[in-house]
Amino acid sequence: MDERDVVAGGDTDDSHGSRVPPPQGFLEQATVTEDPRPSFENNWPACWSAAGDLLEWDDPYDAVLEDGEPPFYDWFPGGTLNAAYNCLDRHLHAGRKNRAAIHWEGKDGERRTYTYRDLYVEVNEFAAGLRSLGVEEDDVVTIYLPMVPELPIAMLACARIGAPHSVVFAGLSASALATRIEAAGSAYLVTCDGYYRRGDAFNQQRKAENAVLSVDHDVETVVVDRLGEALPHVLGRDQHDYDTLVEAHAGETITPVPRESNDMLFVMYTSGTTGEPKGVVHGTGGYLAYVAWTARTVLDVTPEDTYWCAADIGWITGHSYIVYGPLALGTTTVLYEGTPDYPDRDRLWELIERLAVDIFYTAPTAVRAFMKWGTEYPSRHDLSSLRLLGTVGEPINPRAWQWYYDHIGGGECPIVDTWWQTETGGMAISTIPGVDDMHPGAAGKPLPGIGVDVVGPDGTAVEAGQTGYLTLTRPWPGMAKTLYSGDDRFLQEYWLAHSVPEAGDWRYGSGDAARVDEDGYITILGRADDVLTLAGQRFSTMEIESAIVGVEGVAEAAVVVGPEGDDVHAYVSLEGGTEPSAALEQSVLDRVELSIGRFARPRRVVFTPELPKTRSGKIMRRLLEDVTNGKPLGDTSALRNPEIVGEIRSTIDQE
Ligand code: WTA
Repeated sequence: MDERDVVAGGDTDDSHGSRVPPPQGFLEQATVTEDPRPSFENNWPACWSAAGDLLEWDDPYDAVLEDGEPPFYDWFPGGTLNAAYNCLDRHLHAGRKNRAAIHWEGKDGERRTYTYRDLYVEVNEFAAGLRSLGVEEDDVVTIYLPMVPELPIAMLACARIGAPHSVVFAGLSASALATRIEAAGSAYLVTCDGYYRRGDAFNQQRKAENAVLSVDHDVETVVVDRLGEALPHVLGRDQHDYDTLVEAHAGETITPVPRESNDMLFVMYTSGTTGEPKGVVHGTGGYLAYVAWTARTVLDVTPEDTYWCAADIGWITGHSYIVYGPLALGTTTVLYEGTPDYPDRDRLWELIERLAVDIFYTAPTAVRAFMKWGTEYPSRHDLSSLRLLGTVGEPINPRAWQWYYDHIGGGECPIVDTWWQTETGGMAISTIPGVDDMHPGAAGKPLPGIGVDVVGPDGTAVEAGQTGYLTLTRPWPGMAKTLYSGDDRFLQEYWLAHSVPEAGDWRYGSGDAARVDEDGYITILGRADDVLTLAGQRFSTMEIESAIVGVEGVAEAAVVVGPEGDDVHAYVSLEGGTEPSAALEQSVLDRVELSIGRFARPRRVVFTPELPKTRSGKIMRRLLEDVTNGKPLGDTSALRNPEIVGEIRSTIDQE
């Protein structure tokens, strides 16, 4: 870990704000008002039955936690259950069949509401359809859909028949999809004809077909007709129309397949530092219990609420807190296909008012955009239905926090700044809204039952106030079971003691830099390794860079994020004999779009004779970040070629 740059602060406006107690109005009705942490501490791991008991089990579990070889743990061993049953059937039995499960708002203003009963019916029919195509228990089904109701329906249909799903974000390219289909050995794909992007009908089916063509095995594809007349399409070999399939199984019900608690519910691909996507495997019982428990404890979700997480289901946030957590709790979850600024910049606030949304969960980058657009948009609407606000995905700076608190929450909604990862399955660090004071800029304390240590490179804890690596010291029910490619890589990537023996018995390495403040609150400082967040998802710089160096004539590339937070800036050095040109720049842009997706297209490509490197040859991205963001340069003493940074800066200044 020697030359890794621990990134300096995501907190652009300096010091934290002062502490803010939970608003009185919220306290009066909060679900959790007494801190569960002490009783969890005294009763660990048995305390986690509080989460297990939120579910309905076919066979009860024998124990809460069974020690395996670290870091492999079995949660609720002996228990069997079905996730779709827990998200659907049991709510019908509980007399909530006519309650809305999903309110969907399409990009073109279309609206659909599914009651729990409607959702149950279509999930059963599609589950029967998948079976008729040959899908069996444990077959991985890849789902490549935008934010349409068929996406959660397909996920739940898979869960019902015990087939793990692998949802691939719809904006990813054909080649990224192919890699994921191949890696998961998936022989089934659910996709659509297309979807609207900036008002144009965009062809998704073609991307999916290109992916399937480059996969070594046969893939049966189900195509959802999203666009109708706007994009007429024909079905080819091994392709089936979603509606026809569902109609062919109208009225059929499928007995939910009982799954062992530790059987795989899904795999979710996320980026690794080596550039190869990692298939993070989540189990059934521990995961579902954990997302339900955290949705209730942290987001205060109750069955009576209308709850909106404005993320994409293509990433973990949507899996845990649009689909599984809220539906397990029997609440109404909002599914929004569009963007926040179409038809106007008050679109989200119009929706919150019309649907009387109680709880709203989004990313800080969205909050900063709202802040830039100004208060006139939220002030056009009555947002008084809101009770709680949340953020996830990156640190929220105190200024944006305050704006969100004042202008969206009207000073009456607590904000939970929730830290977690694809691998943690659900939230791990946050305030509990009816218990803890908020501290803008700091995420909060470890949730009940979670142990956190911030450690130095030798694996021992650093003092309060010092920056180090964020590690989790105890297992928790939502944690990933392994990586799809195998246990070895899981060990290498996450188990700190594996690479740093001094770290002790068990320690999960998150890859984030953080510090524990004097009051025990944890401030997250960003990724400690070379990872950036685009379209809400982590990508390793390596993934984008390897796409760029695939362009003929390119020698090396380094990418960093610019001032917008999701704008990629690429620094590219060329092979001898190749000169910078507009055509070459275009090839770089096209290559990134082709191999990753449009959202990863660099905002700017800067050609440079060399990249700044340490003596051991490691690219110093931190300095490129400083240059990109117009910040004073950090320490350049470790550089082999310090003069290059000045050269790059003047190149940029001349542009
Ligand atoms: C970052 C998304 C600061 C962090 C749920 C983490 C955060 C990565 C926060 C995981 C937060 C997430 N404050 N940083 N509240 N929440 N992160 O796997 O760097 O897409 O490691 O999961 O997002 O991203 P992932």
